[in-house]
Amino acid sequence: MNPNNPFSLTGKTILITGASSGIGQGIAIACAGQGAKVLLLGRDADRLKETVKLCENGQDHGFLSLDLRDELQINAELETFLKQHAPIHGFVHAAGVSPTIPFKVLKEYQVQEAFQLNVFSAISMIQVLTKVGIKSSEGMSMVMIASVMSEVGEKGKSLYAMTKSALVGMVKSLALEYADKKIRFNAISPSVVNTPLSRNSEYRKNEAAMKQVLEQHPLGIGEVEDVSNAAVFLLSPASRWITGENMIVDGGYLAK
Ligand SMILES: NC(=O)c1ccc[n+]([C@@H]2O[C@H](COP(=O)([O-])OP(=O)(O)OC[C@H]3O[C@@H](n4cnc5c(N)ncnc54)[C@H](OP(=O)(O)O)[C@@H]3O)[C@@H](O)[C@H]2O)c1
Repeated sequence: MNPNNPFSLTGKTILITGASSGIGQGIAIACAGQGAKVLLLGRDADRLKETVKLCENGQDHGFLSLDLRDELQINAELETFLKQHAPIHGFVHAAGVSPTIPFKVLKEYQVQEAFQLNVFSAISMIQVLTKVGIKSSEGMSMVMIASVMSEVGEKGKSLYAMTKSALVGMVKSLALEYADKKIRFNAISPSVVNTPLSRNSEYRKNEAAMKQVLEQHPLGIGEVEDVSNAAVFLLSPASRWITGENMIVDGGYLAK
């Protein structure tokens, strides 16, 4: 650990999903700002290239365009990609969808789709990373971007909440299962953050609903940096004694 800057990620390689937009892109930029080499995953290759430019810090960053709903791509292409760049010191799973569907009309394929991206892809990536990504002496920190919906409910968000609660449940057991390999697992649960995903939400189309969302956030709705700085902390040696946690980053949303 650098005693002058325990938050430094210099010398570390960090893999980030959802790096082509919003929170994942912000985390990539923040990690690069702390000296990391970043490996960026998303579907849109052009936007991934833009993120690479925004991360410029003299490191040889990498990116891979793949659909995380496709298990075969994860197991084949991602494994090859990670072998090229190992050892990996950090992983952030920020890719996700946030469906709003009343429970009475929820369909099995919608459950399958949301779980595939939000949860199952994380399971596959963690398995690949623990197999080919780690150098035993250096350890690893893995961060799942969950949501305050893992802690509280909201009408229409049962499916989304189930996926995010699954991630929070997973990190607690994995923290125990992998502690002897020096792999830490944590989640970050944000409330509303200003990103393309939240800007397309239903409440944005309704003035009264938007007013209510603002009132629920004593510190206002969040910016990407509010989450990316928390992620840097959890990836860095500054948090070396923290594992199995769900860090709430919500502008006071859950304080009431
Ligand atoms: N924004 C909020 O208010 C908020 C609050 C709490 C939690 N979160 C969580 O934060 C995470 C990021 O959200 P965001 O607001 O940054 O969303 P965003 O701007 O819509 O970004 C979503 C990212 O996920 C990637 N993605 C989507 N489907 C994919 C697929 N099938 N394969 C690979 N990548 C895929 C997208 O990549 P491509 O576009 O390249 O496909 C994009 O980079 C999500 O897990 C979300 O649930 C967000």
